[in-house]
Amino acid sequence: MTQLSRLFLLLLLPTLLLAEAPGKNAIATAHPLATAAGQQTLAAGGNAFDAAVTVSAVLAVVEPYSSGIGGGGFWLLHRKDGHEVVVDGRETAPARAHRDMYLDQHGEPIPNLSMDGPLAAGIPGEPAALAHIAGRYGKLPLSQSLAPAIHLARNGFSVTPHYQKMAGWRLEALNVSPAAAAIFLLHGEVPPLGHTIRQPQLASTLELLAQRGHDGFYRGKIAHMLVEAVQQAGGIWTMEDLAGYQVVERPPLKGHYGDYTITSVPPPSSGGIALIQMLQMLERLDYAAAEPPQRSHLLVEVMRRAYRDRAHYLGDSDYVEVPVDHLTSPEYVTRLAAGIDPELATPSTLLPGYGSPVGGNDTTHFSILDREGNYVAATLSINYPFGSGFVAGISGVLLNDEMDDFSVKPGVPNAYGLVGAEANAIAPGKRMLSSMSPSFVSGPGGTAILGTPGGSRIITMVLQGMLEYFDGKEVESWVSRPRIHHQYLPDILYFEAAALSEPLLTALHGRGHILSEAASSWGNMQAVHWDERTGRVTAASDPRGEGRASVR
Ligand code: GLY
Repeated sequence: MTQLSRLFLLLLLPTLLLAEAPGKNAIATAHPLATAAGQQTLAAGGNAFDAAVTVSAVLAVVEPYSSGIGGGGFWLLHRKDGHEVVVDGRETAPARAHRDMYLDQHGEPIPNLSMDGPLAAGIPGEPAALAHIAGRYGKLPLSQSLAPAIHLARNGFSVTPHYQKMAGWRLEALNVSPAAAAIFLLHGEVPPLGHTIRQPQLASTLELLAQRGHDGFYRGKIAHMLVEAVQQAGGIWTMEDLAGYQVVERPPLKGHYGDYTITSVPPPSSGGIALIQMLQMLERLDYAAAEPPQRSHLLVEVMRRAYRDRAHYLGDSDYVEVPVDHLTSPEYVTRLAAGIDPELATPSTLLPGYGSPVGGNDTTHFSILDREGNYVAATLSINYPFGSGFVAGISGVLLNDEMDDFSVKPGVPNAYGLVGAEANAIAPGKRMLSSMSPSFVSGPGGTAILGTPGGSRIITMVLQGMLEYFDGKEVESWVSRPRIHHQYLPDILYFEAAALSEPLLTALHGRGHILSEAASSWGNMQAVHWDERTGRVTAASDPRGEGRASVR
């Protein structure tokens, strides 16, 4: 090495180091208390994975309508040495579940059976995932990372307007479960603003998890309590179901858009496949160079095709053959893109296959980057707001209603209007198909860490967040961009009021799109951006929600 190149390296070294470590911690979550608790864990010497455990557990306490230890989720992790993994903590169907369990004697779905009460609940994955992440990737003991959640469960948090909206929506289901009503309602009604929700029983359950790890929840006292309460109320969980629950580590799914690499979640989520398909179609259709009416048209058409494939092919790849490589191959995606009429909408009925759901604001997402360069995108859920509405005895655990994410009957829409096929039929131990899409994007503009709740609309929201990033917009635009959505069936282009101007609406109507303005906005995106070239770290929380982003 010459003197000159040594000098050059020396001068460059600080920049290179900067590229490897952001030197700042950034967190965006759906609740200010979760963001603050995550920062507290980082300040105490924890890494992004410890903070992810803290944030997940605090969200479980303060956003009981979105996620919880009675639910599950997907944690996408990037370690600073480049190791990436999906921790799949998705719920599983109990051993006594069977494909027709929600159908009546005529083979028709029994209303609400897969949504309300303990029969709607899959075996939770979140407690196992938290113990796994802390043990394998964290620096702090699980008990330390869970401490803020235990404190908040015991001491309470304040009812917000969003809490009121969600509780109002699920008032009936919550009132069916005396334990749920006692915790989340006040005299059977939505509690007033500022009312304190205390969950001392949940605090004790979290303490057992903190002390005994995985087994604290899945074996022994809590497991007995859960199974007894579920069975007494007509559910089918057994001790073996709980003892047998395991998280699965999966390699993330990778795809490309121009110079960018997309990293997302494989089956049992449909998110990664659909995102990669949509982006690769857009690349072939030269979306980047298109003008507004054409851009919206192309977006709808790629959404339609990706959601058709979701409905037709996707399910738990541990149980059914999911042709992931084929569905994301350049040849197949080129063929899909070639089928798009550049001028006119393709009626969904002209595409072969089945259909898929409409999204709400349940579920939750957070994004974390630590100063060393570890990062996490995680989307967690108990499905419908307040899950099944059922709290299991004195465990304080609110159970999910994730069983509704299976296709209860092929071709019949679920709570989100999504339809599915055989690949997503119910089977014992199987994971139900998800739309959760925690994702990373890396490329010339830096690293993006993002995701959102929103049922079937999750994937199209993440797509639109990524497109803002590709257009060079700031992180605030990724989370706030007015959104559109199409999911193949129903054949409707949904849009937020600000998403499409009058001339755009006229143009799209003229191309044959069926338009429907949403009564309210949707999604609650949380995103972090690390620009390795400049060392700049920014974060944003969706203005539609009550969350907070913090960079320190
Ligand atoms: N329960 C929402 C999802 O997994 O997509």
